[in-house]
Amino acid sequence: MLGGRFVLGALAGRGGMGAVYHAWDRVRGTPCAVKVLADALAHDEELRARFRREAEAVMRLDHERIVRVHACGATGARQFIAMEYVAGGTLRQLLADRGPLGERPALRIALEIAEALAYAHERGIVHRDVKPQNVLLTVDGHAKVADFGIARAADATRLTRTGSVFGSTHYIAPEQVRGEAAGTAADQYALGVVLYEALAGRVPFDGEVPVAIALRHVHDPVPNLAAIRPDLSQPTLEIVARLLAKTPAGRYPSAGAAAEALRGALGALPEGAGQQEPLDTVVLSREPDTQHAQTQGLVAPPDAAGETPARPAATDGRRGHRGRVAAASMWAAGIVAAVAASVALAAGYRGAWLAAHTTVPVLTGLTMQQAAREAVALQLGVIVTGQRQDLHLPVGAIVDQDPPAGQQVLKGVVVQLTVSEGSGIVPDLRGIPVSGAARVLEGAGLRLGAVTYAYDNQVAAGYVMSQAQRAGAHLPANGGVDVVVSAGPNQTPAGVPQAPVPESGSANK
Ligand SMILES: Nc1ncnc2c1ncn2[C@@H]1O[C@H](COP(=O)(O)OP(=O)(O)O)[C@@H](O)[C@H]1O
Ligand SMILES: [Mg+2]
Repeated sequence: MLGGRFVLGALAGRGGMGAVYHAWDRVRGTPCAVKVLADALAHDEELRARFRREAEAVMRLDHERIVRVHACGATGARQFIAMEYVAGGTLRQLLADRGPLGERPALRIALEIAEALAYAHERGIVHRDVKPQNVLLTVDGHAKVADFGIARAADATRLTRTGSVFGSTHYIAPEQVRGEAAGTAADQYALGVVLYEALAGRVPFDGEVPVAIALRHVHDPVPNLAAIRPDLSQPTLEIVARLLAKTPAGRYPSAGAAAEALRGALGALPEGAGQQEPLDTVVLSREPDTQHAQTQGLVAPPDAAGETPARPAATDGRRGHRGRVAAASMWAAGIVAAVAASVALAAGYRGAWLAAHTTVPVLTGLTMQQAAREAVALQLGVIVTGQRQDLHLPVGAIVDQDPPAGQQVLKGVVVQLTVSEGSGIVPDLRGIPVSGAARVLEGAGLRLGAVTYAYDNQVAAGYVMSQAQRAGAHLPANGGVDVVVSAGPNQTPAGVPQAPVPESGSANK
């Protein structure tokens, strides 16, 4: 429980600054997402202050295409942001699942991002970390931009954003690479990369190491999109080219102007173009919002439900009912009738849920999703109440349950689950690519710590040469493993300015 209000459930995802959890907002009576700042960062006073200031600024943004921030706060050293829960996954996941998008859905998503940027820019807030992971999708396929201004809070304290360095360098504007102040035009550039990627199925500039990618943004021409997607309309190609202009002056005067251009390009598409693959149906095939919230961890807020069994779906119904009761209270007779009706309804509901017993199934070893499915089928609830390291079960698997398997319980009982945080045993990372190292560490419940690059003639660029924490050592959950990665041999081509080898992931500045 955070701030006396947010009941945390299962992990929704991890990012550069911490972890995002499914949560239940007891005040609003709705699911929400809570981002908890990583422990390692929680002790940085300056960062904490900025994190809070930025979150407060973002809390004032109120736009359909921006993920709403409901609250931010701290309990002890733990800093958190509670925000609107968006159930359709990220644009990153959508692109991974189905590859390049049709022209129409790609333009529509880009337009929605541009509208979000225009609104925020007019209020003095620059995003600074526009990327597909920060474009969340609703179940009906609309985009909502997350994490406004939060990257800036991180950057300002020269935070080593380990996990996100590699992702972010793909979306960095040339002026940021050159160390100039990144303003609203940098958000336009990042939008250009996102649109290019959505259409081409790959980012315009890639490379083994962040510094190589960063330099390509500055020096390399954008690879010809028309050659990859000959079906695209001329206005779309022109928009991508303009968003990806090397200088801010070459881009649109504002994100609003970019939105205008995107709207024009959408309007100019011939009837039916891209219609054969509507995004909506694809996204809808994902789990719908409420079901997702349940299976991911919170079948019911235990306190809100009191001693009555868990029934999240009933919460809204009851609220609605209460609303109707209030309306009826104008007439005394109405009150009596309504109270009588609600008592009868509640009794009926309890009756239906409590009538029968069931046997608690074995949930240990399962993922949260599998466990929720099993439990729901038996009319049981599940909630995550703890996490701990486990030598055998992978991150996210259930390691303990209460009540135990085999016990007879009333239907509707909520089974409390403890989830594995991984083994915490440091793997041997030497000789594997740094992106692979991040994945291997994730499996052990650890993360990539500081990444330092060094030129090397023997080891191929991008591969881990050494690690600070030895293989086999045991670290606390989410502990960082620092690595030295090869930047390849030191041969800077003529004409390319000598870039310093970035340390600790500073290439995304
Ligand atoms: N408001 C939200 N609703 C649903 N899922 C979210 C929300 N915010 C973040 N997530 C999920 O959590 C993951 C981690 O988020 P974050 O910490 O911002 O890192 P990143 O943006 O680098 O992926 C995201 O990739 C996304 O899958
Ligand atoms: Mg994010």
